[in-house]
Amino acid sequence: MLTTTSQPDVDQTGTDMREAAVVAGLAPSIHNTQPWRWRIRPAALELWADRTRQLPASDPDGRMLTISCGAALHHARIYLAAQGYRTLVLPYPDPDYPDHVAHLGIIGRTPVTDAATRRCQAVALRRTDRRPVLPRLIDDKAFLALSMAAQAQGCYLHPLRRDQVIELASTVAHAQDAQLADDAWRDELATWAGGTRPDGTGIPDANIPDRQPQTTVAQRDFDRPGTLHIGNEHDTAATYAILYGEQDDRLGWLDAGQALSALWLAATVWDVSVMPLSAPIEIPSTRQAVRATLSGIGYPYLVLRFGTTGDGKGPAPTPRIPPDRIITTEDE
Ligand SMILES: Cc1cc2nc3c(=O)[nH]c(=O)nc-3n(C[C@H](O)[C@H](O)[C@H](O)COP(=O)(O)O)c2cc1C
Repeated sequence: MLTTTSQPDVDQTGTDMREAAVVAGLAPSIHNTQPWRWRIRPAALELWADRTRQLPASDPDGRMLTISCGAALHHARIYLAAQGYRTLVLPYPDPDYPDHVAHLGIIGRTPVTDAATRRCQAVALRRTDRRPVLPRLIDDKAFLALSMAAQAQGCYLHPLRRDQVIELASTVAHAQDAQLADDAWRDELATWAGGTRPDGTGIPDANIPDRQPQTTVAQRDFDRPGTLHIGNEHDTAATYAILYGEQDDRLGWLDAGQALSALWLAATVWDVSVMPLSAPIEIPSTRQAVRATLSGIGYPYLVLRFGTTGDGKGPAPTPRIPPDRIITTEDE
């Protein structure tokens, strides 16, 4: 581990850059598509969007793809910070290559803090937890820590009042009805959710509830039961919040992904469960309804459910694409 401020050793840096890309592979992504590729350069990593894993029916603009890439970028940064690297991100560095999402360069060394180490350890523990939350509100201090983690990446969390949660429930129901009525959308969902697929992508049955949980706000309807056992809790103690920011474009979405990763790793440290709800953002009319809740202060990127799910026996890790399929070095 690097703990001084001298220049990093070149061979070690190359090894650490590759490991950063491997760790970034553990980031959350829409339907576990992992729509990214990494290219290792001397003292830098290039992040590229992989459009072959974009969702044309539900994500034609690449909003969720870009948020997912942002989460992977932040995971790479977290790993490098825990190895004592100071890094700099150049988003979309080349106008001729719009799929070149970010250049992540090493610009020196920095002392490794305990917080950096804890955040990095949280990467392997973080999961999407679709079980209903326990009847225990999350700690105010924990919510503040999550908000601050999002803010450090240029985004904000807007917690919803009870009346706004009821409105959200209706918005989510509209979004899910519209999606389930669309054959292309259902085919796409079936491609990514449930069953088994050999390539290390998608959401396995083990991560899909065995029945729709009792919730005020419906969670993603995967159009099939999974094998994730859920109890009879009702999510009355859940906290819903909108992750939002100032730009509804690829730069804003990239920040949103970094903020999602940052707040999710903080939540993991605080033992707060996180479940994104992206359906209301995927459809323009319901996205507009979510935006109205923000009363003009910004653009919504995701709705998030926070809570306590408790017993430590969380869902199993979802699969990942083997690193060699998505990481290349400069001369390959
Ligand atoms: C942009 C984005 C949108 C997501 N939307 C949803 C969603 O609507 N419902 C859901 O249950 N999970 C959602 N997820 C969680 C992913 O399904 C999850 O990250 C992926 O399956 C990998 O599993 P893991 O988070 O447990 O590693 C979303 C994740 C991201 C990054």
